[in-house]
Amino acid sequence: MRNAPTLYRALADELAAAIARGSLPAGGRLPSVRSAARQRGLALNTVTAAYRQLEDRGLIEARPQSGYYVKSLLPALRDPLRALPGDAEPASVEMRDLVSVVLRCQQREDYIDLALACPRGEIFYPGARLARVTASLLRRQPGIVTRYALPPGPVRLCEQIARRAMALGMRLAPEDILLTHGAMEALQLALRAVCRPGDTVGVESPTYFNLYPLLASLGLHALEIPTHPQHGLSVDAVEMLLREGRLAAVVAMPTVHNPLGCTMPLAAKRRLAALVTQHRVPLIEDALYADLQFEDVPSPAVKSFDSEGWVMVCASYTKTLAPDYRIGWLEAGRFGETVRQLKFASSIAESALLTEAVGLFLESGGYDHHLRGLRRRYARQLDRVRGLIASRFPPGTRATQPAGGFLLWLELPERIDTLQLFHAALAEGIVIMPGVLYSSGARFRHCLRLSCCHELDARFMGAIGRLGELASALHAAASPQA
Ligand SMILES: Cc1ncc(COP(=O)(O)O)c(C=O)c1O
Repeated sequence: MRNAPTLYRALADELAAAIARGSLPAGGRLPSVRSAARQRGLALNTVTAAYRQLEDRGLIEARPQSGYYVKSLLPALRDPLRALPGDAEPASVEMRDLVSVVLRCQQREDYIDLALACPRGEIFYPGARLARVTASLLRRQPGIVTRYALPPGPVRLCEQIARRAMALGMRLAPEDILLTHGAMEALQLALRAVCRPGDTVGVESPTYFNLYPLLASLGLHALEIPTHPQHGLSVDAVEMLLREGRLAAVVAMPTVHNPLGCTMPLAAKRRLAALVTQHRVPLIEDALYADLQFEDVPSPAVKSFDSEGWVMVCASYTKTLAPDYRIGWLEAGRFGETVRQLKFASSIAESALLTEAVGLFLESGGYDHHLRGLRRRYARQLDRVRGLIASRFPPGTRATQPAGGFLLWLELPERIDTLQLFHAALAEGIVIMPGVLYSSGARFRHCLRLSCCHELDARFMGAIGRLGELASALHAAASPQA
C-alpha cells in the first residue's frame, strides 16, 4: 500500500498535469479539501498537503474563505516605469476617426465588442428593479415630468452619494455635490473651472482615451505622467512637475485605473493629496471604478486626505446601475461655486425623474448586494480571460492583474502593432481598443485594452481566442526569420 507522502505527491502531480493540459483552467476553483478527500477516499491531511505543494509550485492560490484557485500562467505586467513625462499633442484626426469606427461597430449586432467599457446584459445591472422604482415614481408623481428641471435637483440622491462616499473615507456634504450628465460632464466642468485655454494638464500614461479629445476641445495640453501598471501614477513625477510650475491641474484615477485596473498604494494617495495642497494645484480625481474594488476593505479615495479642498472628485452610476440615465456627480472642493455656475450656464440641471429614481433605488437598499455580486463576477471573468490569453496569445504577452473593475490591459511583444491587429480583427467582426488611443505618442503601439463586461459565452471567448491567433500571425510575420 502506498504511504501518505506518496499519495499527496501523486495527487499534486495529477492536478499539476490537469492544469498544464488546461482541463483545470486558470481562474477555476479546485474542489474543496473536504469534497476532494471524499471523492478520492483520501485523508483530509493528504489533500491539504497536495494543495500546499501546488501552492508552493505557484500553480494554485488560496483565497480566504473561498477556496483554492488555479493561478494564471500569464505573466503580470510589472515593468518598471519606462516612459518619461512628455508633452502630448491634442487628439489627432486619426484618433478621432478610430473612435468613430469603434462606436459604429460596437452598436452592430454582428460585431463582437471587446472594446468599450459598457457592461451589456441583464446580469450587470439591476434593470428590472430600477424600472419598477422609476415606474412607481411616475405613478405617484406624474407632475415630475412637467416641472422644469432646475438645480440643485433632488436632495435624496445627493444624500445617498454622500453616505456612500463614506465607504471610501470621504466626508462630503450633500449640498456640495453637483449632479452631472455622467462622469464625462463632471470631468469637463472640473477642467473648465480650474484651467484656461493653453494650460497644461497632467494626465496618467496610459489614461482614459476620451480625456484626449476632451482636453483638446477645451484648448488644453496633456502632459503624460508615467503610470505604473501596479502602483499607478508616479507621485515623484507629479512632484517634479508641480515644483516646475508646469501644471494647471492633474487628472487621475487613483483607485481602479482605466485602462490599467491598478490602485495607488495608500501612502502614495496621501502624498499626492499633500502635494497638490502644498502647490495649490487642483487634482481631479476620477473615482468611477472605485466601487468595483475587489479587496474586502476598499482603498480610500485621495479626496479622503484632502484638507483644503484642492481635490475635486467625481464618479457616476453609468457602469453599475443605470447606464441610460447617465447620472454622474462632482464634488469640486473649493471650486464648488464655479462648477455650479458652469453647469447652469451649459446644461442647467439633470432630469428630476431620473435622479430621483436613482436616489430612491439607492435608498431602498440592495445596491451593495448588487455591487458585491458584480465584483465577484468581474474578478472571475478577468481570471478566465487571463487564462485564455495565456494559452492563445503569442509568447511574451503580458497582462495586468486588476485590483477591480473589468478591464484588461495587454502588452504584446513589441513587434506587434495593435493598430494592425485592430484592422485585422475588425475585418472578422471583432472590435478592440488599440494602445495608440491611450497616449498621444506611439508608446503603447504594442498594447491593447480588452473589456470583460459581457457574458463570457462561447462567442465572446471565441473572439478572444481568435484575437490571440491574429496576434500570433502578426508576430510571426514581423519576426526576423519570416
Ligand atoms: C475613467 C472614466 N472616466 C469617465 C468615464 C465617463 O463616464 P460616464 O459614462 O459616466 O460619463 C468613463 C467611461 O468609460 C471612464 O472609463
